[in-house]
Amino acid sequence: MKIVSGSTSKFVGDELSKSLNIDIVNTEIKRFPDSEIYIRILDNIKGEDVLLIQNSWPDLNIIELLIIQDAIRLAGANNIITIIPYYGYARQDKLFQDGEVISAKTLGKLISINADKIITIDPHKEHIMDFFSVPSYSISAIDDLSNYFKDKSLDLILAPDKGAIDRVKKAAKIINCDFDYMEKTRLDGYRIQIKPKTLDVENKNIAIIDDIISTGGTMAMSINELKKQKAKKVYASCIHGLFIGDAVKKLKSAKCDEIISTDTIMSEYSKVKISNTIYKFLKNKKFL
Ligand code: R5P
Repeated sequence: MKIVSGSTSKFVGDELSKSLNIDIVNTEIKRFPDSEIYIRILDNIKGEDVLLIQNSWPDLNIIELLIIQDAIRLAGANNIITIIPYYGYARQDKLFQDGEVISAKTLGKLISINADKIITIDPHKEHIMDFFSVPSYSISAIDDLSNYFKDKSLDLILAPDKGAIDRVKKAAKIINCDFDYMEKTRLDGYRIQIKPKTLDVENKNIAIIDDIISTGGTMAMSINELKKQKAKKVYASCIHGLFIGDAVKKLKSAKCDEIISTDTIMSEYSKVKISNTIYKFLKNKKFL
């Protein structure tokens, strides 16, 4: 077995290579001035099983993923296990209005063409896994994220909305503290409303855990609300840190005490590694 790391996931690829003791395939990946991508597999991978790691976000990386998959297939690989740490388009998971398309499904079909198995980490909605036409598995990095908080003396873990309650329930069990959720209503793609929920947060250390921090709006409003209610420390954490535009500025202005994300998307806030979760999954499933 060999590893091919796409350009979004070099760090995760290197960590997996170390823990699994398998080689990274040498590749040449570059962009032309017009942003089109050039990909070449430099090592012989004929007959090898390959673990390919690459995000499907933002859009340019979808093309990279599809072209690397094809290059690996053409180079004669046996099985291609495609690992997508952050699966983009998972929020367009159903038809909200006439004339729309389920983009998560469009992407699922394309990625399945040159994959034998697909693994993603904490997809936004679990049912998007059905959009792949090959065996697919979603795994969660919540244990790793929770472990990060073990020495932070947390009193409470909050989900920014009711839909995310299962994730915080699991985290609260690992950390051994209380959990609850905020009441959030999404007005449109950019605006949300967090209804003041009367929680007993005064003088408490709180971690908000979401699957995604995108524009930071959800998190910033939640932090503001908690600080208004005299919370002591508020940690803003997520699995996938997209941090679009001035997201970080919003979190800091809300007086967030720390920002934490995993390394599904690399940033200065990637304080939690996902490679161990992938490693355990591959071993348990005997995919190696
Ligand atoms: C939405 O359902 C997700 O779980 C996140 O809460 C959302 O994507 C965060 O977006 P933003 O950071 O733009 O508020």
